Amino acid sequence: MKVDVLLGLQWGDEGKGKVVDVLTPDYDVVARFQGGPNAGHTLEFEGQKYVLRSIPSGIFQGDKVNIIGNGVVLDPALFKAEAEELAKSGHSLKDRLIISKKAHLIMPTHRVLDAAYEAAKGDSKVGTTGKGIGPTYTDKVSRNGLRVGDLLHNFDQKYAAAKARHEQILHDMHFEYDITETEKAWFEGIEYLKQFQLVDSEHVINQMLDNGKSVLCEGAQGTMLDVDFGSYPFVTSSNTVCAGACTGLGVSPRRIGDVYGIFKAYCTRVGSGPFPTELFDEVGDKIRDLGHEYGAVTGRKRRCGWIDLVALKYAVMIDGVTKLIMMKSDVLDDFDTIKACVAYKVNGEEIDHFPFDISEGVEPVYVELPGWKTPMSKMKGEDEFPEEFNNYLSFLEEELGVPVKIVSVGPDREQTIVRYVDD
Ligand code: GDP
Ligand code: IMO
Ligand code: MG
Repeated sequence: MKVDVLLGLQWGDEGKGKVVDVLTPDYDVVARFQGGPNAGHTLEFEGQKYVLRSIPSGIFQGDKVNIIGNGVVLDPALFKAEAEELAKSGHSLKDRLIISKKAHLIMPTHRVLDAAYEAAKGDSKVGTTGKGIGPTYTDKVSRNGLRVGDLLHNFDQKYAAAKARHEQILHDMHFEYDITETEKAWFEGIEYLKQFQLVDSEHVINQMLDNGKSVLCEGAQGTMLDVDFGSYPFVTSSNTVCAGACTGLGVSPRRIGDVYGIFKAYCTRVGSGPFPTELFDEVGDKIRDLGHEYGAVTGRKRRCGWIDLVALKYAVMIDGVTKLIMMKSDVLDDFDTIKACVAYKVNGEEIDHFPFDISEGVEPVYVELPGWKTPMSKMKGEDEFPEEFNNYLSFLEEELGVPVKIVSVGPDREQTIVRYVDD
């Protein structure tokens, strides 16, 4: 069997959680492969709203297996809080969640380091989620990390050594902090983790595939936040692109099947960093208000702008997208004109490829399309789509060279329109 991958194509928050939940009935396994509690994946159904950070969004659909892969960074305290919250609402994870022993642990001092590095950067700060993501991946790559599997053997010693190293750095930076409370919660989280299946999940997943089981990989963040291909250095610290699913789960590239690329009908970004199509006017405010564009984790205001097809085409290429999913179509219901950026003007020259640096002097070149001026959120099938909306879809499909399979018209599970069924 093949592994399908669902990825954000923009700067995150495209609606990955909602769509993973919708697609889960078609799969046996849902797996997270990178990122950590910097993610905030929102799901809505039966009048309830849930925000998942580390736990895969397949957890609400029956007895599917959910995997937290080796590429993920896990904060035990936040994981415990998230799992307990789910259990309270009747969604126990026991026996349905597998955690890789090779996943790295976010320590309390990683979070402090995140804050210290951001403070040291001053005005050029990344605007991280403050969850310790960068320092944890730094320790992983510099071969100093602490992994989930470590908690089964000599853990206190390993923890103390890693903590001492962090303390030295923080001391040298003259950074004041107090982790008494967070450390207590962290160790409670470590104990809590022990009840789950902590395994070498690469074996489990490959065995499941050999036995004919199907797997959906759930990306976190988005392609433009990828550490290699995003708007560096204003990115996260993991590979959010399709290739990340191979390294983050231990599946061969030859196993990859469909790649679902998910994007909003417009564009948002949270945190610092370049955003060529950002709107600073009342149109941007209107998109933010109608789209409730505030961070699921931090509550921060999301920056809003028109769709950027230069960046999207780049993402489609890097990820090898086979099917597109367009979210939040309903948010643009009430605009006379919709704009789409089809090229950048850099130093007076028009380019349609994504350049090395988009931090300065990039001016978007727009085409304008008529808005549909029709409420979409109650629509049930594509036969109800207004002509102008169909034109927008066709325009995007032509520009991106990939069909749009799913259109989302609201936050609820039910507000999802599948345009065609695969053979
Ligand atoms: P994720 O991180 O990619 O899972 O996305 P987030 O959950 O951070 O942000 C997406 C937000 O949009 C959430 O609040 C969703 O409930 C909401 N949402 C998802 N799809 C739609 C849609 O089609 N229309 C509207 N209006 N909201 C949506
Ligand atoms: P989901 O999975 C949107 C952004 C942060 C910051 C940068 C680095 O919900 O789409 P980090 O804490 O990762 O070191 O922050 O990346 N960022 C996200 N933006 N959605 C996310 O996740 C994000 N995860 C990180 O705002 O600019
Ligand atoms: Mg999110």
